[in-house]
Amino acid sequence: MAALGGAGGRAAAALLRRRGPGGPPAGLGAGPRRYRYKEKWAATAPRIPPTRLALHHFDVNYSLQLKDLWPSVRASLLCEQKYGALLNNFSAVHHVTQELELLNATNFVSEAPKKAPRSQRGAAAEEAGRGESRSQERSGEGRTAMQAETMTQAEMSPPLRPSISSNIKCYTFPRGDITRFRPARPDALGLLDYYLMDAASLLPVLALNVQPDDFVLDLCAAPGGKTLALLQTGICGHLAANDVSISRTKRLHQILHSYVPKVIRETVSVTSCDGRDWGQLQGSTFHKVLVDVPCTTDRHSVMEEENNIFHKRRTKERQMLPMLQLQLLMAGILATKPGGEVVYSTCSLSPLQNEYVIERAVEIAETEFNISIHVEDLSHFRTLFQDTFSFFLDCRLGELVLPHLTANFGPMYFCKLRRM
Ligand SMILES: C[S@@+](CC[C@H](N)C(=O)[O-])C[C@H]1O[C@@H](n2cnc3c(N)ncnc32)[C@H](O)[C@@H]1O
Repeated sequence: MAALGGAGGRAAAALLRRRGPGGPPAGLGAGPRRYRYKEKWAATAPRIPPTRLALHHFDVNYSLQLKDLWPSVRASLLCEQKYGALLNNFSAVHHVTQELELLNATNFVSEAPKKAPRSQRGAAAEEAGRGESRSQERSGEGRTAMQAETMTQAEMSPPLRPSISSNIKCYTFPRGDITRFRPARPDALGLLDYYLMDAASLLPVLALNVQPDDFVLDLCAAPGGKTLALLQTGICGHLAANDVSISRTKRLHQILHSYVPKVIRETVSVTSCDGRDWGQLQGSTFHKVLVDVPCTTDRHSVMEEENNIFHKRRTKERQMLPMLQLQLLMAGILATKPGGEVVYSTCSLSPLQNEYVIERAVEIAETEFNISIHVEDLSHFRTLFQDTFSFFLDCRLGELVLPHLTANFGPMYFCKLRRM
């Protein structure tokens, strides 16, 4: 299974069996018999670090997938990643905006529409119309200050308004600029001013295109970067954030505590259920569902030994990932109302965890649940965000951000499905 199992297992065995050039195993070499010893392989053979195993898997599989691009993506995965600073609209951010702009950082979300060519704006405006009429149907009298702000900003840049939620502000340094952001600071009320994250992680949230009063489900939410971004839109009617891991859900609570005022925090329902059961628990309930699944976390896998999915004892878990991803995506689809939308995302380059999961889910939805799914075109994201991210141009379904030395974000795969 590409980037997941079999080949790596064999490679590991081969590496474990490795001997000197043409010679016998260590310990059995030539020399006086009294100095020879027989190695106990099981106890003493050095373990291959998971990061090396991961890199070997990726070399085998991604060189076929990405061809000439792989050496550059590989080098980028092994270099320091770039961050974005997601501004916390709940804290006093005005001076932070000024500070970041003085450092030459820009809000890549608000910059994007300015760069969109005219034809692109037309397509986005169409999408805008769809979202707007629906939100008008549903929105009541009382709009929050944040919703009002959304409208004002939207009126200023009509072509892309709901396509790109203008309330989300994420600052990045220009291509090739590897300046680091200072750590986040608390404001007078103790709320942190920004959240540092891989800026590409915002793309699935932007693709979700939350509209005023939408019921939103974040099915695999911890530690909570995307939940926080969803809250920054300020327009969710209801937000449910779930993650099966209790310890990671605690981290989600901590993030909410550090960034979100109590009154807003209390409107988020945080649960620790197995997301695979969600469809049965609350089927057809949500307008928007984010399914940000566990994956091989490619960047982490080549850089960190700790908690590495390529550890030998996690081989089975790794091999089962596409199945788990498919089950979670199916649960997400079932939790969505007819007409609603699901965004599926991973931080892996693997087509087995990306496009294949989408294809299989569309097929199962149709054959087993009689649900017809439309895979939405997100190619305008490539145009909108080309200055900030490097996109893979040959993705069959959805979009994939490739790490690049001058824009070292991602990998991030995202694909949007509409339940018909
Ligand atoms: C890629 S991480 C999510 C990151 C998160 N969306 C964010 O932006 O911070 C995947 C998450 O899926 C969770 N997970 C794994 N299996 C799950 C399941 N069966 N149901 C729900 N969550 C699951 C993991 O605990 C992990 O926190």
